[in-house]
Amino acid sequence: MSQRDSNDASLDLSAFWMPFTANRQFKQAPRLLKRAKGMYYTSYDGRRILDGTAGLWCVNAGHCRDEIVAAVKAQAEEMDFAPTFQMGHPIAFEAATKIARHTPGDLKHIFLTNSGSEAVDTALKIALAYHRACGQGQRTRFIGRERGYHGVGFGGISVGGITPNRRAYSGALLPAVDHLPHTLSLEHAAFSKGQPAWGAHLADELERLVALHDASTIAAVIVEPVAGSAGVLIPPRGYLERLRAICDQYGILMIFDEVITGWGRLGAAFAAQYFGVTPDLLTMAKGTNNAAAPLGAVAASAAIHDAIVGGVADGIEFFHGYTYSGHPIGAAAACATIDLYEREQLFARAARLAPYFEAAIHRLRGEPHVIDVRNLGLIGGVELQPREGAPGKRAYDVFVGCFEKGVLVRYTGDILAFSPPLIIDETQIDELFSTVAQVIRETK
Ligand SMILES: Cc1ncc(COP(=O)(O)O)c(C=O)c1O
Repeated sequence: MSQRDSNDASLDLSAFWMPFTANRQFKQAPRLLKRAKGMYYTSYDGRRILDGTAGLWCVNAGHCRDEIVAAVKAQAEEMDFAPTFQMGHPIAFEAATKIARHTPGDLKHIFLTNSGSEAVDTALKIALAYHRACGQGQRTRFIGRERGYHGVGFGGISVGGITPNRRAYSGALLPAVDHLPHTLSLEHAAFSKGQPAWGAHLADELERLVALHDASTIAAVIVEPVAGSAGVLIPPRGYLERLRAICDQYGILMIFDEVITGWGRLGAAFAAQYFGVTPDLLTMAKGTNNAAAPLGAVAASAAIHDAIVGGVADGIEFFHGYTYSGHPIGAAAACATIDLYEREQLFARAARLAPYFEAAIHRLRGEPHVIDVRNLGLIGGVELQPREGAPGKRAYDVFVGCFEKGVLVRYTGDILAFSPPLIIDETQIDELFSTVAQVIRETK
Protein backbone atom coordinates (compact mmCIF):
# COMPACT_ATOMS: atom_id res chain seq x y z
CA MET A 1 0.00 0.00 0.00
CA SER A 2 1.60 3.28 -1.03
CA GLN A 3 1.75 6.31 1.25
CA ARG A 4 -0.34 8.17 -1.33
CA ASP A 5 -3.16 5.67 -1.11
CA SER A 6 -3.32 5.44 2.64
CA ASN A 7 -1.51 7.26 5.38
CA ASP A 8 -2.61 4.74 7.97
CA ALA A 9 -0.31 1.74 7.79
CA SER A 10 -2.12 0.13 10.72
CA LEU A 11 -5.34 -0.36 8.72
CA ASP A 12 -5.83 -4.08 8.15
CA LEU A 13 -7.59 -4.69 4.84
CA SER A 14 -7.67 -8.47 4.96
CA ALA A 15 -10.90 -9.24 6.86
CA PHE A 16 -13.35 -7.25 4.72
CA TRP A 17 -14.27 -9.38 1.68
CA MET A 18 -15.30 -6.53 -0.54
CA PRO A 19 -18.41 -6.64 -2.76
CA PHE A 20 -18.16 -6.36 -6.56
CA THR A 21 -14.45 -5.66 -6.17
CA ALA A 22 -11.24 -7.16 -7.48
CA ASN A 23 -10.13 -7.76 -3.88
CA ARG A 24 -6.51 -8.69 -4.54
CA GLN A 25 -5.97 -5.80 -6.96
CA PHE A 26 -7.70 -3.30 -4.67
CA LYS A 27 -5.79 -4.32 -1.57
CA GLN A 28 -2.50 -3.83 -3.40
CA ALA A 29 -3.39 -0.19 -4.13
CA PRO A 30 -6.50 0.81 -2.19
CA ARG A 31 -8.60 3.86 -2.88
CA LEU A 32 -9.87 4.92 0.51
CA LEU A 33 -12.39 7.64 1.23
CA LYS A 34 -12.66 9.23 4.63
CA ARG A 35 -15.09 12.11 4.62
CA ALA A 36 -17.82 13.60 2.45
CA LYS A 37 -19.65 16.92 2.22
CA GLY A 38 -21.85 18.30 -0.52
CA MET A 39 -20.34 17.45 -3.92
CA TYR A 40 -17.03 16.17 -2.60
CA TYR A 41 -15.38 13.24 -0.91
CA THR A 42 -12.09 13.61 0.90
CA SER A 43 -9.73 10.72 0.31
CA TYR A 44 -7.74 9.10 3.07
CA ASP A 45 -4.68 11.04 1.95
CA GLY A 46 -6.54 14.34 2.17
CA ARG A 47 -7.41 14.97 -1.49
CA ARG A 48 -10.75 16.45 -2.55
CA ILE A 49 -12.65 14.15 -4.95
CA LEU A 50 -15.55 15.54 -7.00
CA ASP A 51 -18.36 12.99 -6.82
CA GLY A 52 -19.48 12.32 -10.39
CA THR A 53 -21.58 9.32 -9.38
CA ALA A 54 -23.50 10.35 -6.23
CA GLY A 55 -21.67 7.53 -4.46
CA LEU A 56 -23.42 4.61 -6.17
CA TRP A 57 -26.24 6.57 -7.83
CA CYS A 58 -27.68 7.27 -4.41
CA VAL A 59 -26.62 10.50 -2.71
CA ASN A 60 -28.94 12.66 -4.78
CA ALA A 61 -29.07 15.60 -2.35
CA GLY A 62 -25.30 15.68 -1.88
CA HIS A 63 -23.29 14.31 1.02
CA CYS A 64 -23.80 14.74 4.74
CA ARG A 65 -26.60 17.26 4.46
CA ASP A 66 -27.11 18.90 7.87
CA GLU A 67 -30.86 18.22 8.00
CA ILE A 68 -30.44 14.51 7.29
CA VAL A 69 -27.55 14.14 9.71
CA ALA A 70 -29.61 15.84 12.42
CA ALA A 71 -32.64 13.60 11.76
CA VAL A 72 -30.55 10.42 11.92
CA LYS A 73 -28.86 11.57 15.13
CA ALA A 74 -32.14 12.55 16.78
CA GLN A 75 -33.77 9.25 15.84
CA ALA A 76 -30.80 7.19 17.08
CA GLU A 77 -31.11 8.95 20.41
CA GLU A 78 -34.89 8.68 20.69
CA MET A 79 -35.47 5.08 19.56
CA ASP A 80 -32.86 2.93 17.85
CA PHE A 81 -35.08 0.06 16.79
CA ALA A 82 -38.64 -1.16 17.10
CA PRO A 83 -40.36 -4.03 15.31
CA THR A 84 -42.86 -3.51 12.50
CA PHE A 85 -44.29 -7.04 12.69
CA GLN A 86 -47.66 -6.64 14.43
CA MET A 87 -46.27 -3.42 15.97
CA GLY A 88 -45.61 0.06 14.66
CA HIS A 89 -43.87 3.35 15.22
CA PRO A 90 -44.81 6.71 13.71
CA ILE A 91 -41.66 7.43 11.71
CA ALA A 92 -42.16 4.33 9.49
CA PHE A 93 -45.69 5.47 8.64
CA GLU A 94 -44.50 9.04 8.08
CA ALA A 95 -41.77 7.83 5.71
CA ALA A 96 -44.24 5.75 3.69
CA THR A 97 -46.64 8.71 3.51
CA LYS A 98 -43.89 11.04 2.28
CA ILE A 99 -42.71 8.50 -0.30
CA ALA A 100 -46.30 8.10 -1.50
CA ARG A 101 -46.55 11.88 -2.05
CA HIS A 102 -44.17 11.39 -4.99
CA THR A 103 -44.98 7.96 -6.43
CA PRO A 104 -46.91 7.98 -9.73
CA GLY A 105 -50.60 7.24 -10.34
CA ASP A 106 -52.25 5.23 -7.59
CA LEU A 107 -49.07 3.48 -6.48
CA LYS A 108 -49.56 4.74 -2.94
CA HIS A 109 -49.02 1.57 -0.88
CA ILE A 110 -45.42 1.37 0.23
CA PHE A 111 -43.70 -1.82 1.40
CA LEU A 112 -40.39 -0.99 3.09
CA THR A 113 -37.19 -3.02 2.61
CA ASN A 114 -33.49 -2.36 3.23
CA SER A 115 -32.06 -2.38 -0.26
CA GLY A 116 -32.85 -2.36 -3.93
CA SER A 117 -32.24 -6.12 -4.17
CA GLU A 118 -34.81 -6.74 -1.47
CA ALA A 119 -37.22 -4.33 -3.11
CA VAL A 120 -36.95 -6.29 -6.37
CA ASP A 121 -37.50 -9.68 -4.75
CA THR A 122 -40.39 -8.19 -2.78
CA ALA A 123 -41.98 -6.84 -5.98
CA LEU A 124 -41.68 -10.23 -7.69
CA LYS A 125 -43.36 -11.89 -4.70
CA ILE A 126 -46.11 -9.26 -4.66
CA ALA A 127 -46.75 -9.97 -8.35
CA LEU A 128 -47.16 -13.70 -7.66
CA ALA A 129 -49.33 -13.08 -4.60
CA TYR A 130 -51.53 -10.70 -6.62
CA HIS A 131 -52.24 -13.18 -9.40
CA ARG A 132 -52.93 -15.89 -6.86
CA ALA A 133 -55.34 -13.59 -5.03
CA CYS A 134 -57.07 -12.99 -8.36
CA GLY A 135 -57.45 -16.72 -9.02
CA GLN A 136 -54.63 -16.78 -11.60
CA GLY A 137 -52.01 -18.64 -9.61
CA GLN A 138 -50.67 -20.21 -12.81
CA ARG A 139 -49.14 -16.87 -13.75
CA THR A 140 -45.66 -17.55 -12.40
CA ARG A 141 -43.34 -16.55 -15.22
CA PHE A 142 -41.27 -13.36 -15.14
CA ILE A 143 -39.90 -11.51 -18.12
CA GLY A 144 -36.72 -9.51 -17.54
CA ARG A 145 -34.34 -8.02 -20.06
CA GLU A 146 -30.82 -8.67 -21.28
CA ARG A 147 -28.34 -6.34 -19.58
CA GLY A 148 -30.89 -5.58 -16.87
CA TYR A 149 -29.65 -5.19 -13.30
CA HIS A 150 -32.07 -5.90 -10.51
CA GLY A 151 -29.74 -6.47 -7.59
CA VAL A 152 -28.30 -9.69 -6.31
CA GLY A 153 -31.12 -11.71 -4.74
CA PHE A 154 -32.02 -14.94 -6.52
CA GLY A 155 -35.09 -13.25 -7.98
CA GLY A 156 -33.09 -10.23 -9.08
CA ILE A 157 -30.31 -12.17 -10.79
CA SER A 158 -32.87 -14.45 -12.46
CA VAL A 159 -34.71 -11.59 -14.12
CA GLY A 160 -31.47 -9.65 -14.53
CA GLY A 161 -29.39 -9.99 -17.65
CA ILE A 162 -25.77 -9.47 -16.68
CA THR A 163 -23.87 -12.68 -17.42
CA PRO A 164 -21.14 -12.55 -14.73
CA ASN A 165 -23.80 -11.91 -12.09
CA ARG A 166 -25.61 -15.10 -13.13
CA ARG A 167 -22.91 -17.53 -14.29
CA ALA A 168 -21.83 -19.09 -10.99
CA TYR A 169 -25.41 -19.50 -9.81
CA SER A 170 -26.95 -20.59 -13.09
CA GLY A 171 -28.20 -23.90 -11.73
CA ALA A 172 -30.20 -22.21 -9.01
CA LEU A 173 -31.96 -19.37 -10.83
CA LEU A 174 -35.75 -19.07 -10.86
CA PRO A 175 -37.01 -21.64 -13.37
CA ALA A 176 -39.73 -19.68 -15.19
CA VAL A 177 -37.97 -16.61 -16.55
CA ASP A 178 -37.41 -15.27 -20.03
CA HIS A 179 -35.72 -12.12 -21.27
CA LEU A 180 -36.44 -9.33 -23.71
CA PRO A 181 -33.53 -8.15 -25.84
CA HIS A 182 -31.74 -5.05 -24.61
CA THR A 183 -32.18 -1.85 -26.56
CA LEU A 184 -28.64 -0.62 -27.13
CA SER A 185 -27.43 -0.39 -30.71
CA LEU A 186 -24.33 1.59 -31.54
CA GLU A 187 -25.00 0.84 -35.19
CA HIS A 188 -28.37 2.60 -35.15
CA ALA A 189 -28.17 5.05 -32.28
CA ALA A 190 -24.59 5.98 -31.33
CA PHE A 191 -24.20 9.52 -29.97
CA SER A 192 -27.95 9.98 -29.53
CA LYS A 193 -28.82 12.95 -27.36
CA GLY A 194 -31.54 11.87 -24.97
CA GLN A 195 -33.84 9.07 -26.10
CA PRO A 196 -32.73 7.33 -29.31
CA ALA A 197 -35.16 7.55 -32.22
CA TRP A 198 -34.36 3.92 -33.16
CA GLY A 199 -35.53 0.84 -31.26
CA ALA A 200 -39.17 1.13 -30.12
CA HIS A 201 -39.94 -2.01 -32.16
CA LEU A 202 -37.87 -4.07 -29.69
CA ALA A 203 -40.82 -3.86 -27.28
CA ASP A 204 -42.70 -6.08 -29.71
CA GLU A 205 -40.43 -8.92 -28.65
CA LEU A 206 -42.79 -9.19 -25.70
CA GLU A 207 -45.47 -10.29 -28.16
CA ARG A 208 -43.14 -13.08 -29.27
CA LEU A 209 -42.63 -14.24 -25.66
CA VAL A 210 -46.38 -14.10 -25.05
CA ALA A 211 -46.91 -16.27 -28.12
CA LEU A 212 -44.27 -18.72 -26.92
CA HIS A 213 -45.27 -19.05 -23.27
CA ASP A 214 -48.92 -17.97 -23.42
CA ALA A 215 -49.98 -14.85 -21.54
CA SER A 216 -51.79 -16.95 -18.93
CA THR A 217 -48.41 -18.13 -17.56
CA ILE A 218 -46.77 -14.69 -17.31
CA ALA A 219 -46.92 -12.76 -14.02
CA ALA A 220 -44.90 -9.66 -14.75
CA VAL A 221 -42.38 -7.85 -16.89
CA ILE A 222 -39.62 -6.04 -15.03
CA VAL A 223 -37.39 -3.40 -16.58
CA GLU A 224 -35.27 -0.48 -15.49
CA PRO A 225 -36.73 2.54 -17.31
CA VAL A 226 -33.11 3.57 -17.91
CA ALA A 227 -30.71 0.67 -17.40
CA GLY A 228 -27.79 1.90 -15.33
CA SER A 229 -25.47 -0.79 -14.07
CA ALA A 230 -25.00 -2.50 -17.44
CA GLY A 231 -23.73 0.73 -18.92
CA VAL A 232 -26.45 3.39 -19.26
CA LEU A 233 -29.02 2.14 -21.77
CA ILE A 234 -31.53 4.86 -22.63
CA PRO A 235 -34.96 3.58 -23.73
CA PRO A 236 -35.79 4.35 -27.36
CA ARG A 237 -38.64 6.79 -27.92
CA GLY A 238 -41.97 5.00 -27.64
CA TYR A 239 -40.45 1.77 -26.25
CA LEU A 240 -41.77 1.94 -22.68
CA GLU A 241 -45.20 3.07 -23.90
CA ARG A 242 -45.33 0.03 -26.19
CA LEU A 243 -44.32 -2.36 -23.38
CA ARG A 244 -47.06 -0.87 -21.20
CA ALA A 245 -49.66 -1.36 -23.92
CA ILE A 246 -48.71 -5.02 -24.45
CA CYS A 247 -48.78 -5.70 -20.69
CA ASP A 248 -52.25 -4.16 -20.51
CA GLN A 249 -53.45 -6.21 -23.44
CA TYR A 250 -52.48 -9.50 -21.77
CA GLY A 251 -53.05 -8.77 -18.07
CA ILE A 252 -49.32 -8.86 -17.35
CA LEU A 253 -48.06 -6.66 -14.51
CA MET A 254 -45.40 -4.09 -15.35
CA ILE A 255 -42.68 -3.47 -12.79
CA PHE A 256 -40.36 -0.47 -13.09
CA ASP A 257 -37.13 -0.93 -11.19
CA GLU A 258 -36.44 2.69 -10.28
CA VAL A 259 -33.62 2.07 -7.84
CA ILE A 260 -31.43 4.50 -9.77
CA THR A 261 -33.97 6.49 -11.79
CA GLY A 262 -36.05 7.34 -8.72
CA TRP A 263 -35.86 10.56 -6.75
CA GLY A 264 -35.10 13.17 -9.35
CA ARG A 265 -32.39 11.57 -11.46
CA LEU A 266 -34.26 12.40 -14.70
CA GLY A 267 -35.73 15.69 -13.49
CA ALA A 268 -39.02 14.25 -12.20
CA ALA A 269 -39.64 12.33 -9.00
CA PHE A 270 -39.61 9.03 -10.88
CA ALA A 271 -38.92 7.94 -14.43
CA ALA A 272 -42.59 6.93 -14.56
CA GLN A 273 -43.61 10.59 -14.45
CA TYR A 274 -40.79 11.63 -16.76
CA PHE A 275 -41.87 9.16 -19.46
CA GLY A 276 -45.58 9.39 -18.70
CA VAL A 277 -45.76 5.61 -18.27
CA THR A 278 -47.19 4.27 -15.01
CA PRO A 279 -46.19 0.75 -13.94
CA ASP A 280 -48.17 -1.47 -11.56
CA LEU A 281 -45.27 -1.90 -9.15
CA LEU A 282 -42.26 0.34 -8.68
CA THR A 283 -39.07 -0.45 -6.78
CA MET A 284 -36.80 2.17 -5.23
CA ALA A 285 -33.88 2.41 -2.77
CA LYS A 286 -30.75 4.58 -2.83
CA GLY A 287 -32.01 8.18 -3.22
CA THR A 288 -35.11 7.46 -1.15
CA ASN A 289 -33.19 8.53 1.93
CA ASN A 290 -30.07 9.87 0.27
CA ALA A 291 -28.34 6.60 1.23
CA ALA A 292 -27.90 7.85 4.79
CA ALA A 293 -29.00 4.41 6.03
CA PRO A 294 -30.01 1.21 4.21
CA LEU A 295 -33.57 1.51 2.86
CA GLY A 296 -35.57 0.35 -0.12
CA ALA A 297 -39.25 0.21 -0.97
CA VAL A 298 -41.88 -1.12 -3.32
CA ALA A 299 -44.80 1.09 -4.32
CA ALA A 300 -47.88 -0.94 -5.26
CA SER A 301 -51.03 0.12 -7.07
CA ALA A 302 -54.37 0.20 -5.27
CA ALA A 303 -55.59 -2.80 -7.29
CA ILE A 304 -52.61 -4.92 -6.27
CA HIS A 305 -52.65 -3.88 -2.63
CA ASP A 306 -56.39 -4.31 -2.29
CA ALA A 307 -56.44 -7.70 -3.98
CA ILE A 308 -53.79 -9.08 -1.62
CA VAL A 309 -54.78 -7.32 1.60
CA GLY A 310 -58.49 -7.77 0.98
CA GLY A 311 -57.99 -11.30 -0.27
CA VAL A 312 -57.99 -13.13 3.06
CA ALA A 313 -60.70 -13.20 5.69
CA ASP A 314 -58.38 -12.32 8.57
CA GLY A 315 -54.80 -12.71 9.76
CA ILE A 316 -51.57 -11.83 7.99
CA GLU A 317 -52.24 -11.15 4.32
CA PHE A 318 -48.71 -11.20 2.88
CA PHE A 319 -46.12 -13.52 4.42
CA HIS A 320 -43.10 -11.38 3.76
CA GLY A 321 -41.03 -8.72 5.54
CA TYR A 322 -37.64 -7.88 6.99
CA THR A 323 -36.58 -7.28 10.59
CA TYR A 324 -35.51 -3.84 9.41
CA SER A 325 -38.57 -2.99 7.27
CA GLY A 326 -39.31 0.55 8.41
CA HIS A 327 -36.17 0.77 10.55
CA PRO A 328 -36.50 4.01 12.52
CA ILE A 329 -33.15 5.45 11.43
CA GLY A 330 -33.63 4.67 7.74
CA ALA A 331 -37.16 6.04 7.93
CA ALA A 332 -36.05 9.23 9.71
CA ALA A 333 -33.44 9.75 7.01
CA ALA A 334 -36.13 9.27 4.32
CA CYS A 335 -38.41 11.87 5.91
CA ALA A 336 -35.59 14.44 6.15
CA THR A 337 -34.40 13.66 2.62
CA ILE A 338 -37.81 14.00 1.02
CA ASP A 339 -38.39 17.28 2.90
CA LEU A 340 -35.07 18.49 1.51
CA TYR A 341 -35.89 17.43 -2.06
CA GLU A 342 -39.15 19.37 -1.80
CA ARG A 343 -37.74 22.47 -0.09
CA GLU A 344 -34.82 22.82 -2.51
CA GLN A 345 -36.84 21.63 -5.51
CA LEU A 346 -33.97 19.39 -6.50
CA PHE A 347 -35.91 17.47 -9.17
CA ALA A 348 -36.65 20.71 -11.02
CA ARG A 349 -33.00 21.65 -10.60
CA ALA A 350 -31.96 18.37 -12.25
CA ALA A 351 -34.35 19.09 -15.13
CA ARG A 352 -32.86 22.58 -15.53
CA LEU A 353 -29.28 21.27 -15.54
CA ALA A 354 -29.96 18.38 -17.93
CA PRO A 355 -29.32 20.33 -21.18
CA TYR A 356 -26.04 21.72 -19.81
CA PHE A 357 -25.02 18.21 -18.71
CA GLU A 358 -25.95 16.86 -22.14
CA ALA A 359 -23.88 19.46 -23.99
CA ALA A 360 -20.90 18.90 -21.68
CA ILE A 361 -20.85 15.10 -21.96
CA HIS A 362 -21.30 15.15 -25.73
CA ARG A 363 -18.17 17.26 -26.04
CA LEU A 364 -16.33 13.98 -25.35
CA ARG A 365 -17.31 12.86 -28.84
CA GLY A 366 -14.13 12.84 -30.90
CA GLU A 367 -11.83 12.11 -27.97
CA PRO A 368 -9.64 9.00 -28.47
CA HIS A 369 -11.40 5.62 -28.14
CA VAL A 370 -14.86 7.18 -27.55
CA ILE A 371 -17.35 5.15 -29.59
CA ASP A 372 -20.59 6.38 -28.00
CA VAL A 373 -21.94 9.06 -25.69
CA ARG A 374 -25.47 8.77 -24.31
CA ASN A 375 -27.45 10.69 -21.72
CA LEU A 376 -30.80 11.43 -20.14
CA GLY A 377 -31.53 13.78 -17.26
CA LEU A 378 -28.47 13.68 -15.02
CA ILE A 379 -27.39 10.24 -16.24
CA GLY A 380 -24.58 9.90 -18.74
CA GLY A 381 -22.63 7.08 -20.35
CA VAL A 382 -19.45 7.14 -22.41
CA GLU A 383 -18.49 3.94 -24.18
CA LEU A 384 -14.83 3.33 -25.02
CA GLN A 385 -13.40 1.01 -27.63
CA PRO A 386 -12.17 -2.02 -25.64
CA ARG A 387 -8.43 -2.58 -25.68
CA GLU A 388 -7.51 -5.52 -27.91
CA GLY A 389 -7.65 -8.70 -25.83
CA ALA A 390 -8.31 -6.83 -22.58
CA PRO A 391 -11.97 -5.86 -22.31
CA GLY A 392 -12.74 -3.47 -19.45
CA LYS A 393 -9.12 -2.52 -18.90
CA ARG A 394 -9.26 0.81 -20.69
CA ALA A 395 -12.27 2.06 -18.71
CA TYR A 396 -10.67 0.81 -15.49
CA ASP A 397 -7.55 2.84 -16.27
CA VAL A 398 -9.69 5.93 -16.94
CA PHE A 399 -11.54 5.38 -13.65
CA VAL A 400 -8.24 5.15 -11.72
CA GLY A 401 -6.78 8.11 -13.62
CA CYS A 402 -9.81 10.25 -12.81
CA PHE A 403 -9.62 9.27 -9.15
CA GLU A 404 -5.97 10.30 -9.10
CA LYS A 405 -6.98 13.66 -10.58
CA GLY A 406 -9.75 14.20 -8.04
CA VAL A 407 -12.89 13.04 -9.87
CA LEU A 408 -14.99 9.96 -9.05
CA VAL A 409 -16.56 8.21 -12.04
CA ARG A 410 -17.93 4.69 -12.39
CA TYR A 411 -17.17 2.11 -15.00
CA THR A 412 -18.71 -1.13 -16.13
CA GLY A 413 -17.07 -3.08 -18.91
CA ASP A 414 -15.66 -0.33 -21.10
CA ILE A 415 -18.44 2.11 -20.30
CA LEU A 416 -18.00 5.10 -18.02
CA ALA A 417 -21.15 6.06 -16.12
CA PHE A 418 -22.02 9.43 -14.64
CA SER A 419 -24.79 10.27 -12.16
CA PRO A 420 -23.77 13.24 -10.02
CA PRO A 421 -25.73 14.53 -7.04
CA LEU A 422 -28.54 16.81 -8.19
CA ILE A 423 -26.85 19.75 -6.40
CA ILE A 424 -24.00 19.79 -8.93
CA ASP A 425 -23.48 23.17 -10.63
CA GLU A 426 -22.28 24.12 -14.12
CA THR A 427 -18.67 24.70 -13.04
CA GLN A 428 -18.53 21.26 -11.46
CA ILE A 429 -20.07 19.67 -14.57
CA ASP A 430 -17.27 21.31 -16.59
CA GLU A 431 -14.67 20.09 -14.10
CA LEU A 432 -16.07 16.57 -14.25
CA PHE A 433 -15.99 16.20 -18.02
CA SER A 434 -12.81 18.18 -18.68
CA THR A 435 -10.98 15.88 -16.25
CA VAL A 436 -12.47 12.84 -17.98
CA ALA A 437 -11.41 14.20 -21.38
CA GLN A 438 -7.87 14.82 -20.16
CA VAL A 439 -7.58 11.34 -18.64
CA ILE A 440 -9.01 9.67 -21.76
CA ARG A 441 -6.37 11.46 -23.85
CA GLU A 442 -3.64 10.23 -21.52
CA THR A 443 -4.91 6.63 -21.49
CA LYS A 444 -3.56 4.15 -24.01
C1 LIG B 1 -31.87 -0.89 -11.03
C2 LIG B 1 -31.32 -1.49 -9.78
N1 LIG B 1 -32.03 -2.39 -9.11
C3 LIG B 1 -31.59 -2.95 -7.98
C4 LIG B 1 -30.37 -2.59 -7.46
C5 LIG B 1 -29.87 -3.24 -6.21
O1 LIG B 1 -29.86 -2.36 -5.15
P1 LIG B 1 -29.01 -2.73 -3.84
O2 LIG B 1 -27.58 -2.69 -4.22
O3 LIG B 1 -29.43 -1.65 -2.86
O4 LIG B 1 -29.45 -4.07 -3.38
C6 LIG B 1 -29.59 -1.64 -8.12
C7 LIG B 1 -28.28 -1.23 -7.59
O5 LIG B 1 -27.51 -0.55 -8.22
C8 LIG B 1 -30.06 -1.07 -9.32
O6 LIG B 1 -29.35 -0.18 -10.01
